[in-house]
Amino acid sequence: MANRMWGGRFSSRPDELMEEINASIDFDQRFYRQDIEASKAHCRMLAERGIISAEDAKRILAGLDEIAREIEEGRFTFSRALEDIHMNVEARLAELIGDAAGRLHTARSRNDQVATDFRLYVRDTVDHIIGQIHALMRALAEKAHAHHAVVMPGFTHLQVAQPVTFGHHLLAYVEMFGRDAGRFADARRRLNESPLGAAALAGTGFPIDREMTAKELGFKRPMRNSIDAVSARDFVLEVLAAAAICATHLSRFAEELVIWSSAQFNFIRLSDRFTTGSSIMPQKRNPDAAELIRAKAGRVIGALVTLMVVMKGLPLAYSKDMQEDKEPAFDALDTLSLSLEVMRGMVADMEPVEEAMRAAAATGFSTATDLADWLVRELNMPFRQAHHVTGRLVALAEERGVDLPDLSLEEMRAVEPRITEDVYSVLGVENSVASRKSFGGTAPENVKRMAEWWLERLAEG
Ligand code: ARG
Repeated sequence: MANRMWGGRFSSRPDELMEEINASIDFDQRFYRQDIEASKAHCRMLAERGIISAEDAKRILAGLDEIAREIEEGRFTFSRALEDIHMNVEARLAELIGDAAGRLHTARSRNDQVATDFRLYVRDTVDHIIGQIHALMRALAEKAHAHHAVVMPGFTHLQVAQPVTFGHHLLAYVEMFGRDAGRFADARRRLNESPLGAAALAGTGFPIDREMTAKELGFKRPMRNSIDAVSARDFVLEVLAAAAICATHLSRFAEELVIWSSAQFNFIRLSDRFTTGSSIMPQKRNPDAAELIRAKAGRVIGALVTLMVVMKGLPLAYSKDMQEDKEPAFDALDTLSLSLEVMRGMVADMEPVEEAMRAAAATGFSTATDLADWLVRELNMPFRQAHHVTGRLVALAEERGVDLPDLSLEEMRAVEPRITEDVYSVLGVENSVASRKSFGGTAPENVKRMAEWWLERLAEG
């Protein structure tokens, strides 16, 4: 049998292989709800404008509701021969209500239909992801608040640099995830325009009301250009870019959790809920969840690259290439969503090993900058000279195999005679962090205030 949607022009069925490469129903059934909502809005508008009768509209709307129920209850049979969600729904509608079903597709094309459905789907997903990012930020800010004064080494080049607090380090991620949520919100604002009514690409001669359908579907306005409406996929690209950046942040943090939970660092304990044992080595606790989050960034970034490559060089307007936008987008957004959820759980459970962090913070001459700053402040030394003097003291300590606070006053005075007993007050890690009260600095009182600021903002929603 020739296709029932375009059988007029065709006399035989497509090849089986054609069906296999062409059908999208296996994945686009995911947005059946959006497809049905958009069809209902279109139907109501057609009736409102007298393009179809109120009678037919009533039948169509009831039929669409029935189809939604069938799908929800798993009673719907999806057919590959019917290619995609749009034609599956329409064919079922014809079975349910007869000829009136054929009127639904007036002044519409699958091109504006799929663009509309996908925008609605991506919009819903973005809302969900923003909520998940906020939940992760809340978990981080709570940990930061609880541990605002726990001293750990801050690193550059993964070498101990200066003492910071655990809370401060966690709040760095809150800032990053806050910007990620902002990127999703920006993308949402731009994508929230309706392509519906662009029809195949040129608009339609029927007296449709695009404002009405846009409004009903929660879009800000109809898209201004019908060719753009069916051709644009930058809304997916933008969301995938936001997803890729967010996944990159998750991956960096996951890497830190892997490092911190290693026996060599022993900075944190991850819970049983998010670690696994080894089948052969009884002593092991592996940070698998963190490792997987670290790796999954690759998939999300891959999806962005995939769709960029699909879209580059595509002439306007619709080409079937664009059907390839869905699988990578679904996979990337599912992956990000899972990663966010797991990370939130891991953060809520993790506990710092305070003694290990503090001990590590005191290694590597981490308060050398404090010593140089003391020379500047107390002896009015130019910073460059103070840097040099401190460098000599570090070399001396290194030679003797001790830390800076272990050098005697005599040893220090041999390098710089004006140094007094008071210098020891800045060589401890607690003093070091407490002194860093500059805006955005690691002083525990700053960190506590910043954690509170975030928790308040996040509670407002
Ligand atoms: N399944 C198609 C897609 O995902 C729907 C649009 C088909 N349009 C067309 N002219 N063949 O892109």
